[in-house]
Amino acid sequence: KTTVKTLLILGASGDLTGRLLLPGLAGLLAAGRAPGLRLVGAGSDPWSPEQWQERVKGAFEAASKSADAAGSAALAAVAESTAYHQLDVTADGPLAELLAQLEGPIAVYFALPPHISQKACEVLKRDQVPAGTRLVMEKPFGSGTESAHELNKTLAALVPEDHIHRVDHFLGKATVLNILGLRFANRFLEPVWNRDHIEKVEVIFDEDLALEGRARYYDTAGALRDMIQSHLLHIMAFLAIDAPATIEERDLRDAVATVLRASSIKAPFPETTRRARYTAGTLGERTVPDYAAEQGVDPGRNTETLAEVQVEINNWRWAGVPFILRSGKALGRRRKEAVITFRPVPHLPTGFAGVDSPNQLRIGFGPDVLRLDVDVNGPGDIFTLDRASLVAELNAAELLPYGEVLEGILNGDPLLSVRGDTAEDCWRIIEPVLRAWESGEVPLEEYDAGSAGPAAWPTAVED
Ligand code: BG6
Repeated sequence: KTTVKTLLILGASGDLTGRLLLPGLAGLLAAGRAPGLRLVGAGSDPWSPEQWQERVKGAFEAASKSADAAGSAALAAVAESTAYHQLDVTADGPLAELLAQLEGPIAVYFALPPHISQKACEVLKRDQVPAGTRLVMEKPFGSGTESAHELNKTLAALVPEDHIHRVDHFLGKATVLNILGLRFANRFLEPVWNRDHIEKVEVIFDEDLALEGRARYYDTAGALRDMIQSHLLHIMAFLAIDAPATIEERDLRDAVATVLRASSIKAPFPETTRRARYTAGTLGERTVPDYAAEQGVDPGRNTETLAEVQVEINNWRWAGVPFILRSGKALGRRRKEAVITFRPVPHLPTGFAGVDSPNQLRIGFGPDVLRLDVDVNGPGDIFTLDRASLVAELNAAELLPYGEVLEGILNGDPLLSVRGDTAEDCWRIIEPVLRAWESGEVPLEEYDAGSAGPAAWPTAVED
């Protein structure tokens, strides 16, 4: 494996760099997990080197406070030696010249809007990309199967597939990765983890955030593209894959690709999908305006802020089991979990009374909690069943999701990156739905900001 010597961030003055990349990197450096790394920023803004250094120091501050002496020294060394280059990455020449000056291997992180990243890759030529370079692409990867395919071709002309890191930061979330440990390092789940014993699987990611000033991006994306096409399909894949022989890049990503290839959302879409948009309401202390009235939103686009789809996985293990994926903004209750509902027992011995509800396993993605709901004998009439929950709170991860993803990139390990064929497949799965929604086949419903979503949706849960 190559260890990257220089991390070059394109879009250094942008929001993603400040809010997610630098704090993720800070955790890595503080933990001594990126020794000897050099950081270089580049952007179209005419920043002075000091301005960039201040930004880096500011983003490293929190990690520095809790780091030990070696960690603080590593953070300070990177912040003090970092350089900034003003350049137009879409022009023919400047990026190639910068790459030639840097110590390799280099990881080039495109923290830029997708069309700019794409243009930057189109103007680069293979012989301008030093051997060992890693290209790191943010989501969204293209805007549909075809554009993702084109982008894959552009990248493949520059570096080998295993040097391309398509970022999905959910693959760096400890609780998402925990699905693998829970399923494959324990004996008790795997024998019942199939259509014979599981009734349905829900993956819910309800956020209590609204638009938060991201109209420019979000209004052209919507919940289906923003969350389901990428993050939730990957969670689903981790829940559905067969046990891989190793937790290595090739085996794990093969398993994910196989399950996604077998997945689809079938018509009639008014039955298998739902979409809605928030209207004015209150989120905690905040008053939130109508989505359609938010600054930068074009109401005519009919962008959904809440989406739900039912995915089928057409293989022996899962045929007939609905995988329901739902995500939305401005919801009253933050709810981020996978809920696995088991089938009822084949026969409840006569004489038992009480709840008799199905077992449910809940995997929380923040708070990070595992919960198994079971029926047990009650304390009064002992054969009147009572519901009990076995709860495990998981330890907080040492690294932020972006730290975890960056570590893989810096070690040259694409395990936690999305493979090219999988990126295309994720679009292929949702494209029929996008088309049906565009043609108005599925009504755009409404819900008040701060509510649980449209009341009639089966996944809506009030507190
Ligand atoms: C991002 C989406 O990819 O993931 C955001 O663009 C969303 O809309 C975010 O809020 C959720 O991730 P996290 O890590 O903040 O829970």
